[in-house]
Amino acid sequence: MNFAPLVTPLTARRGRPLTGRIRVPGDKSISHRALILGALAVGATRISGLLEGEDVLNTAKAMRALGARVERTGEGAWRVDGVGVAGFAEPAAPLDFGNSGTGCRLVMGAVAGCPITAIFDGDASLRKRPMRRVLDPVALVGARITNAAEGGRLPITLAGARDPMPILYRTPVPSAQIKSAVLLAGLAAPGTTTVIETEASRDHTELMLRHFGAEVRSEPEGAHGRRISLTGQPELAPSTVAIPADPSSAAFPMVAALIVPGSDVFLPDVMTNPLRTGLIATLRQMGAAIVEEELRHDGGEAMAGFRVRHSALHGVEVPPERAPAMIDEYPILAVAAAFAEGTTVMRGLKELRVKESDRLAATAEMLRVNGIEVEISGDDLAVRGRGRAAGGGLVATHMDHRIAMSALVLGLAADKPVRVDDAGFIATSFPGFADLMRGLGGDIG
Ligand code: S3P
Repeated sequence: MNFAPLVTPLTARRGRPLTGRIRVPGDKSISHRALILGALAVGATRISGLLEGEDVLNTAKAMRALGARVERTGEGAWRVDGVGVAGFAEPAAPLDFGNSGTGCRLVMGAVAGCPITAIFDGDASLRKRPMRRVLDPVALVGARITNAAEGGRLPITLAGARDPMPILYRTPVPSAQIKSAVLLAGLAAPGTTTVIETEASRDHTELMLRHFGAEVRSEPEGAHGRRISLTGQPELAPSTVAIPADPSSAAFPMVAALIVPGSDVFLPDVMTNPLRTGLIATLRQMGAAIVEEELRHDGGEAMAGFRVRHSALHGVEVPPERAPAMIDEYPILAVAAAFAEGTTVMRGLKELRVKESDRLAATAEMLRVNGIEVEISGDDLAVRGRGRAAGGGLVATHMDHRIAMSALVLGLAADKPVRVDDAGFIATSFPGFADLMRGLGGDIG
C-alpha cells in the first residue's frame, strides 16, 4: 500500500573511538502493546517514552481507524482513550501496517474477537511474510478469512467472530507474535484461553495485560516452555505505561563500542527482561566488557544502564534454545563475530528466514561482500572471525532495518568504508540512528 520511499544510501567509515551517553528510543514490542491495550481499555491510558518509529505509528493509526482516540501530547508522550474489549468499530479503509509484522499480527488477534470486518495490508516486505501462523488460531476462535493473497499472505480480509471461543493453542514455532495474537483474541472470549509454547518467547503481552488488570497465569512447561492462561472478558482498566529503551536498538551502539578501538559508551534505561537479553549474555561469553549500572523497575519491566568498552572478543557457539531471547539480534551478533578471534556458530536460526527479509541470507551476504568468511548450513550460521574486517562492500538491505544498521556498525570498524543501498527503513524502529551514532563520534554520512 505504501508508495516506495525514496532510496537513501548511507556510508559508515572507521574513525575515532565512540564515547558518550545515549538513550536509544523506546522498546518497539512494548510500544505496540501499549497502544493496543490502551485502545482496548475503557478510559484514558497515558504512555511515555513511546517509540515514534514508522512501525509503531502505523499501529497508532490502526487504533484510531478502529475507533480509539489516540493523541500525541508531547515527545514520546501519547494518550489513548480506549473503546473496551471487543469494542472496535469497523474501519472505513484498509489498515496499512507498513513494514511491521508485529503490528499486523497483534492487531489481527485483537480484531478476531470483534464482530467487524477489516482489511490488513502492508509494504512489499510484509506482503511476503507468512500470516497463516496467525490466521490458523484466529479461525479456531471463530474469525473468518474472507480474502487473502496466495499462500495466506497480505492483503487479507478478516471478519471477526460474533461469539469468540476460548481456545487452547500450542504455537507451532516459538513466536511472541502468535502467542500475543491468540491472547488478544481471547480477551473477547468467555472462559480461559490458553497458549502453550515449547520455547518461552518475550512475555510483554502477558506482563502488560496484568498491568491493565487482566488475570494471566504463566507456568513453566517442559524444559524451556511456558503455559499461559488468560481469563476472558476482563474489563481492562486504563493505565500509565513508561516505556524503557529498546534492547534490540541498544544492540547497535553496544556492538559498535565493542569493535571500535578505544570506545567507552553508556546506554541508560535499557530494558533487561530476561527473554530479551540473549545478545548481552552471548557478548559477555565472547569476552565483552559490559557492566550493568543504575538498575531499576518501572511498569512491570526491569531496566539498567549499560557501560560498554572496546573489548577483545573470541568466537563462541550460540545454542538454538537461546534464539527466542535474541531473535532480532543475529545480524549485529554476526558483525561482532567478524571482529572476534575464531569462529562463532549460531544454531537454530530458521525463524530468521521469515523476518523483514530472509535475514539469514541477508546477514551472510552483508558479511561476504565485506570480505568476511561465512557459511550457512541448514539453519546454522558460522562466521569466521579474524579480529578485523576488510569492508569496502555495498550492502543490499532488502527493506530490512536491522541489516542496514548492522552493516553501518560494521563500517565503523572495517578497514574500508561500508555502504548500504537504502537506510530509509531504519526509521521503522530506530529513528535518529545515524544522528545518535554521529553523536558518539561515528563517521556516518
Ligand atoms: C516481536 C516478536 C518477534 C520479533 C519481533 C517483535 C514481538 O517476532 O522478531 O521483532 O513484539 O512480539 P516473532 O514472534 O515472529 O518471533
